[in-house]
Amino acid sequence: MTFDTVIRGARVVTAADTGVADVGIRDGQIAALGMQLPAGREEIDAHGLIALPGGVDSHVHIAQPSGEGIEMADDFASATASAACGGNTTVLPFCLPKPGMSLREAVQDYHAQAKDQCHTDVSFHLIVKDVDPQTLGQDLPALIEAGHSSLKVFMTYKGLALSDRQILDVFEVAKRHDALVMVHAENEDAIEYLRDRAEAQGNTAPLYHARTRPLAVEREATHRAIALAEIAGVPLTIVHVSNGESMEEIRHARARGSLVFAETCPQYITLSAADLDQAGFEGAKYVCSPPPRDTTEQARIWAGLEQGVFDLFSSDHCPFRFADSAGKDAPGARASFRNIPNGIPGVETRLPILFSEGVVKGRISLQRFAALSATNHARLYGLAPRKGSIAVGADADIALWDPTLRRTIRQADLHHGSDYTPWEGFEVTGWPVRTLLRGVSVMIDGALTGTRAGGTHIARGKPEIRL
Ligand code: URP
Ligand code: ZN
Ligand code: ZN
Ligand code: ZN
Repeated sequence: MTFDTVIRGARVVTAADTGVADVGIRDGQIAALGMQLPAGREEIDAHGLIALPGGVDSHVHIAQPSGEGIEMADDFASATASAACGGNTTVLPFCLPKPGMSLREAVQDYHAQAKDQCHTDVSFHLIVKDVDPQTLGQDLPALIEAGHSSLKVFMTYKGLALSDRQILDVFEVAKRHDALVMVHAENEDAIEYLRDRAEAQGNTAPLYHARTRPLAVEREATHRAIALAEIAGVPLTIVHVSNGESMEEIRHARARGSLVFAETCPQYITLSAADLDQAGFEGAKYVCSPPPRDTTEQARIWAGLEQGVFDLFSSDHCPFRFADSAGKDAPGARASFRNIPNGIPGVETRLPILFSEGVVKGRISLQRFAALSATNHARLYGLAPRKGSIAVGADADIALWDPTLRRTIRQADLHHGSDYTPWEGFEVTGWPVRTLLRGVSVMIDGALTGTRAGGTHIARGKPEIRL
C-alpha cells in the first residue's frame, strides 16, 4: 500500500533514540520507519533536517477569564497558529470557570470556543477553584472520566488560592479517579504581607512584583504542596519551578520516595528580575508568576534540566497585550504592580529557545529535548502512545527542524495575539521549518499553509506516572 506522505532522509529523534530514516505516513499516522521506503503520494525531502516529535505544550492559557475588564490576547485560532509555527502539534490549555459558571459549563464553553478553530490538537486541564459538593462530587469525577485527566490547583491569586484542607479534598478526588494534580506553589498570605508593605513604602513599580514574590514564598509552598500530596497519597506536578531552592524540595521528596514531577519554562532560564526593573512601565512586559529570578537561579534551573530534575519544559503561555487597558496597562496597573495582569506570551518561542540554548550549546541531547518538549508531556497527561513520539502507530505529529537556521526573535514575525514578545532581539540557532499535524503540513517555512484549521480536542487517558 502506498504512503500518503514520505519524509525522506531526516535525522529522526525520539526520547530514546536518534538515527537517519524515512518516515512513511498513512491515514494521519506513522505507518513505517526505515531506509528507502517506497514512494509516497507526497514526498518531503528532509535531508539535513531533524525530525522531532511535534511539541506538546502542556501549560498554556488561552481565552482564560482574567478578571473584570481584562482580556487574554489569544483565542484558540491565534494561540494554536502561534503554537504550530513554533513546532507544536498539541497544546493543553486550562479551563477556568467564569464567575457563576460551574466547571462542567466552563468545559462545554471551552469546547465550543475551540471547535474548528485550532491549528494544533488541544486537550483541556481543569482548574479547580470551587470546592463545593457539586464540583468535587459530580463535575470533577465526570469530567476526569470523560478524558480531562489533569487538574490545577492554586496556592496563590485572590479568588483562586485554596486552603490546605481544600487542596487535600481535591487531592482525594484526584486519587479516586487517577487524575494528575498540577500545583501552582506560591504562598498567598506571605505575598499579600509583602505587597502591603511595599505599597506602604511607595514601592509600586513593576519590579516590586518580583520583590514581593521572593524565593522563600515559592520554596515554602512547594514544600507544603509536596507534604500535602504525601499525606493524601497522590502524585503531583509542581508547575513553573523558577529556582534552585524549590528544585531542592523536589529532589528531597523524590529521595523519600514521593512521586513528584517538575516543570520549568523558558522565562526561568533566560529572563531575570532585572527585566522588570526598567524605565517607565516597560517592566510590566515581564510580570509573571513566579517571577524571573537572577543568573544564579537560571544556572540552577539549567542544572536541573541537564540532570533530569525536570520532566517538563512548558511555555506557561499567558498572553496579554502591553499597550492595552484590557491587558498589562489595566486600570491602576501603573499605580501599583498589584494590578498588572500576570503572564507572558511564549508558545511560539518555547522550543527554539530550548533548542538553541540547550541542544546547540551542548547542554542537553536531542533525545532529552524530545522528552522535555513532547514525550514526557504526552505520557504524564495521558496522551501517549498516540502523541509525543515518532513511532509506528502514533499520530504523524512531526516538526522538521533546520538546526542551522539563525533567527533573531522579533514580535513582527510571531503569530500570537500579543503585541510584544519578552524575547525581542534574542538570537537563536535552529527553528522548525515545517510542522505536520496528523500527516498534514500545517506550517511550512514560517507560514501557515492555509489548510483548514484541522486541530481537534483529544480526550485523554490516565496519566502514565512512571516516566
Ligand atoms: O503569571 C503567570 N504564570 N500567569 C499564568 C497563570 C499561572 O499561574 O500559570
Ligand atoms: Zn535530499
Ligand atoms: Zn500557575
Ligand atoms: Zn500558567
